[in-house]
Amino acid sequence: MNIKAVILAAGKGTRMKSNKAKVLHKVFDKAIVEYPIKAAKDLGAEVCLVVGYMEDEVRTEIGDSVEYRVQTEQLGTGHAVMQAKDFITDCDLVLILYGDTPLVTVETLKNLVDYHLKHNSLGTVLSTRVSNPFGYGRIVRNGFNEFEKIVEEKDADKNQKRITEINGGMYAFNAAKLVHALDKLTNNNAQNEYYFTDVLDIISSEDGKIDAYMIQDEREILGVNSKVQLAQATAIMKERINIQHMENGVIIEDPQNTYIEPDVEIGIDTVIEPCCIIKSHTKIGNECRIGYNTKITNSILENGVDVESSVIIDSTIGHNTHLGPFAYVRPNSHIEANVKIGDFVEIKNSTIGEGTKISHLTYVGDADVGSHVNFGCGTVLVNYDGKNKYRSEIQDNVFIGCNTNLISPVTIEANSYIAAGSTITKDVPENTLAIARAKQVNKEGRAKNRKTN
Ligand code: UD1
Ligand code: CA
Repeated sequence: MNIKAVILAAGKGTRMKSNKAKVLHKVFDKAIVEYPIKAAKDLGAEVCLVVGYMEDEVRTEIGDSVEYRVQTEQLGTGHAVMQAKDFITDCDLVLILYGDTPLVTVETLKNLVDYHLKHNSLGTVLSTRVSNPFGYGRIVRNGFNEFEKIVEEKDADKNQKRITEINGGMYAFNAAKLVHALDKLTNNNAQNEYYFTDVLDIISSEDGKIDAYMIQDEREILGVNSKVQLAQATAIMKERINIQHMENGVIIEDPQNTYIEPDVEIGIDTVIEPCCIIKSHTKIGNECRIGYNTKITNSILENGVDVESSVIIDSTIGHNTHLGPFAYVRPNSHIEANVKIGDFVEIKNSTIGEGTKISHLTYVGDADVGSHVNFGCGTVLVNYDGKNKYRSEIQDNVFIGCNTNLISPVTIEANSYIAAGSTITKDVPENTLAIARAKQVNKEGRAKNRKTN
């Protein structure tokens, strides 16, 4: 069956109190509207987005994997769907979705379509009961408990306002019938808008069968109209994602305070301690420990990596490597297996070979470091002269004494030893001891008359 989906995303979202189009606000790393788009696509539907307010920004964010129609004036949800009439003429079944409902799942859309087909309906609206129906369209049913119409909050009388079954803003239609009903829509209501919901009334008053498919979980249909609802949507999404990981075998010690973005992958028996944020396309292996207060963005961690209170961005970490506490791994760093990166160590745009130890208070920027190198405390790769950045190489088994400056570009060849306190400006050949510090002079007795308190 040929299914198409029209998703409405033209409104400003006045209630958001924002300069940004509502549908571009983010739930984790994705714009709100990307969620219904993905759900519709996963169902196999071709998607058309109706855009208007900040049209260019929406197109830039979403790209060309969907079709677009433009609603130049925001005259209501019905008017928005009218702009996509040509898109839906040649299909069997059309889904109408709103761009501000990020919690919809493909399973729910599938159930909606199945229900619609099974009941031979011409239009089916997804409904649910909510504890607080304020702001939603109410589903009015007749004496036989059959769907009658939808009344918007602003048009509802006292009794209708008490109805707790609401319109979830997702619909399945017979395409031809929908096109026909769209031609008859008017804006005769409290807000002088073309309400999309009126097409249901139009079809049913022409003796066409309309149904409401009621779902149990009201959290599927939460519409994001305000920043409070944006936070609610994020909280629900967070819980869903965390439950999925736990079901896959990940240990999350404090799911309330763990933020994992939708595209992250984590292996079994990995422990996530409280207050961690794991973002973008990060992949974490099995049996890792992601210690409290860690933030990892778009990085790959192999099995058995142990991290504590650290930040890792756009980098890769080999198996059984230990980081932190308070390590900062900046973009394009590749740290191999069994490495130790200790406290207050910053790594940037560098490769670190297997078994190397950088235990404390060190900056490694723009360097290629071999395996089994030992960095003394307080080593600095001096990679920037105020204008240009330079790269250095430190080969296998080098030992660097504490408080060393390596002025890049410089090469320290294998098995060399840098004496503590050196400032190295020239290359060091293999197996060499390099000392680059002022000689000590002792002046006896000269400290004798020093003032003390
Ligand atoms: C709408 C429904 C309401 C339902 C609720 C579910 C109507 C008339 N009301 O109300 O019954 O309970 O959703 O969340 O449909 N949009 C446009 N062009 C417009 C107006 C809106 O593209 O001219 C888009 C918005 O960008 C938004 C979506 O349509 O993504 C829904 O509009 P919104 O104003 O949020 O409708 P609600 O008042 O929430
Ligand atoms: Ca809404």
